[in-house]
Amino acid sequence: MNLDCLRIQGGKPLYGRITISGAKNSALALIVGAALGEEPVVLENIPDNTDVHVIFDLLREVGVTVQSLDKGKWSVDGSTLNSSKASYELARKLRASFYLAGLLLAKRHEAVVPLPGGCFLGPRPVDFHLKGFQAFGAEVAIEHGCMIGKITKPQGTRFFINRSSMGTTVNLLYLAVLTPGTTILENAAKEPEIVDLAVMLNCMGAKIRGAGTDVIRVQGVKSLHGTDYSIIPDRIEAGTYMAGAVITGGSITVENVILTHLKPIIAKLKEAGAYIEEVDNGLFVAGPEIIRSLDVKTLPYPGFPTDMQSQMMALLTLAHGTSIITENVFENRLQLGAELKRMGGKIKVDGRTAVIQGVEKLYGASVKALDLRSGAALVLAAMAAV
Ligand code: EPZ
Repeated sequence: MNLDCLRIQGGKPLYGRITISGAKNSALALIVGAALGEEPVVLENIPDNTDVHVIFDLLREVGVTVQSLDKGKWSVDGSTLNSSKASYELARKLRASFYLAGLLLAKRHEAVVPLPGGCFLGPRPVDFHLKGFQAFGAEVAIEHGCMIGKITKPQGTRFFINRSSMGTTVNLLYLAVLTPGTTILENAAKEPEIVDLAVMLNCMGAKIRGAGTDVIRVQGVKSLHGTDYSIIPDRIEAGTYMAGAVITGGSITVENVILTHLKPIIAKLKEAGAYIEEVDNGLFVAGPEIIRSLDVKTLPYPGFPTDMQSQMMALLTLAHGTSIITENVFENRLQLGAELKRMGGKIKVDGRTAVIQGVEKLYGASVKALDLRSGAALVLAAMAAV
């Protein structure tokens, strides 16, 4: 199978049982966070995807020792970190490459990191990250497409993050755990992946309180030791499979999930008519005869996740009635509409709002995945298409 192109024959309901992998966005933050230690950290439940392997290569490039111990089990040893410079070739491949900035400033007090690439969901600046680094005493400049940072006298700080930002919260946590003094991050992101990172860092000897709320307090420590840690399951992967049962009128069981993380997704899929029941170690989801139209507004956690917005758009193209999606997190994350229209969807996009008029059927067509989640959404639509 050529991974650049998938050929999908639709029209069959999705049935079966699936064990959900470790969360991609936890894996990326925790793999880099593990390199803050001076001893090996063993990470389990790491998903096997391209982004994870790129982040491993970025760490190896700056001297971190990364070893595969078993399927989904890796050792990350930051004690061999020996460079402050990340390469453009690797960094341009994913947004999370900018996590190297926080790691290198925390451990080497200097960093040369290219501005990140990643999915085109809008401008995706890093201004909050840079302002946060400066709050710790860093001098930062952007030269030739790279952030060049240096901290001579790092000091704990109180910093208000302009708006809820996963990446900024991750990067500033890296810096705070190894910076002398107390740091208070206000308006911090509350995503489960942030809590996962904080729990792992505390297992490594960090002193973090309040992760999962919008005020995180950190007491800096001199160094971090090793630990063994298993990351949380992927709430977006689980939600995507659940949406697959709804859009195809099938039924599936998703195993290895944390129900609290899925609350906004469960609520919306039930509103669309899905039957959802808790079963041992997971959820049973059955799609309805008729998908009900509804409105979705994406918000930072615990609101409806922007990473599930595309999957909802696909599902709502087959709902009875008109639905409205409002994308409040990213500036430009409704482009999927144009691709779904090629399959017979009736979608009008205006700025951050998409109006979806339900149709009877979707039809096979050649379409293009514009980012990870819209790619998943197109697979869902293709499974339902005739
Ligand atoms: C993380 O991206 C996730 N990526 C995204 O998942 C997720 O959609 C996003 O958080 C929101 O939850 C990873 O964890 C690797 P943000 P991130 O900083 O950190 C603006 C996926 O498909 N902003 O929370 O880049 C930004 O433009 C990906 O798995 C600034 O303006 O997102 C956006 O509008 C897609 N300046 C908003 O804040 C900054 O300095 C939220 O971004 C930083 C962000």
